[in-house]
Amino acid sequence: MSESSGPRIAVIVVAAGSGTRLGASAPKAFVPVGGISLLGRSLYTVLGMREPAQVVVVAPAEFVADAEVIAADVAGVAAASVTVVAGGETRQQSVLAGLRMVHDSAQVVLVHDAARALTPSALFDRVVAEVDARRHGVIPGLAVSDTIKRVDARQDIVETVDRSALSAVQTPQGFPKDDLLDAYARATDEATDDAALVSASGRRVSVVPGDPLAFKITTPWDLRRAEELVSRRDDSPRIGVGTDTHGFDPDAELWLAGLYWPGEAGLAGHSDGDAVAHAITDALLSAAGLGDIGGAFGTDDPRFSGAHGEVFIREARRMVEGAGYRVGNIAVQVIGNRPKFAPRRHEAEALLSEFVGAPVSISATTTDGLGFTGRGEGVAVIATALLLHNV
Ligand code: CTP
Ligand code: MG
Repeated sequence: MSESSGPRIAVIVVAAGSGTRLGASAPKAFVPVGGISLLGRSLYTVLGMREPAQVVVVAPAEFVADAEVIAADVAGVAAASVTVVAGGETRQQSVLAGLRMVHDSAQVVLVHDAARALTPSALFDRVVAEVDARRHGVIPGLAVSDTIKRVDARQDIVETVDRSALSAVQTPQGFPKDDLLDAYARATDEATDDAALVSASGRRVSVVPGDPLAFKITTPWDLRRAEELVSRRDDSPRIGVGTDTHGFDPDAELWLAGLYWPGEAGLAGHSDGDAVAHAITDALLSAAGLGDIGGAFGTDDPRFSGAHGEVFIREARRMVEGAGYRVGNIAVQVIGNRPKFAPRRHEAEALLSEFVGAPVSISATTTDGLGFTGRGEGVAVIATALLLHNV
């Protein structure tokens, strides 16, 4: 498939194995941990990457439809799209099936085992950054802590292997796309990871620090460990608050709650002065512990001067989703005499709800003639946001 403009990064999530060693009744990727399938968890992680990516899931042929349901659920939360294709007999054949779906726009391809379902998004970001910096393949790995013996067919010791020269490698494994395509085109032997093929094709691949949470769920013991780790996570919802105030500027156009208000005095301030959008943005960032609008967007950043509120809200949403949350709901109160909100309240709520992917409710009040809002000098807005954990 080709597409000239699109994400620079593609992630192939291989989930087409049967999970023989796990021995569950369903293929491994469909086995739940803490109520969410390994595939679902892997997708939440991928969609939490800092840079948006094309995502290809490789599923067992008879389970493509099931994988599509999981992908649609997760992608719906992140407003992203995920393609599902059928895999092959071996992991290598499955990766190849995924590679065929990668868009032309991709320059870096990551391959990830769905079975490494607790891998943090930060490890994906690190692998991408290292591939960008080094311009060759990069895979995460951990030092081996056990003493390793080479044994013969009778289990008699042949030698002790120097473990300082060993790395237990993980996924996501990242490569310049052409390195990976070339390695797959030349592959003659079966390998259990992608780095083996890229190395065999004569290209350089380096190991960078992995993450203990990227362990592969292979046996029932691994699954118990995953359950244990997930059950200890704090998944209470998080609230955030944001306020914003702008004074009226009769020479400016009014943009408020994402809407244009013809005939009304505008609001002064950086960007379009949309105090509702700015308060929502601050509430989202506050709930996720990501600082505030000034820190996230920078008032001197030329990209945001004159920008409409939608830009800030959508970016804040992307940031909180990247941190592992989804928006539960947002409540906004507008304090001021003008504009009269009631006639356009539903319109504003529908628009803002679309921006955040969750219900936004707006109420408006005056201050009985008191203060700057009562004197009609400006508008003040308070927003609260509730975030729920994705995984
Ligand atoms: N995989 C795949 N296609 C295959 C075999 C494996 O996409 N034909 C994927 C698995 O779904 C898994 C990853 O490759 O996410 C790593 O493989 P492994 O842990 O070995 O999973 P399984 O092959 O499913 O397990 P087992 O070897 O125990 O049968
Ligand atoms: Mg296997």
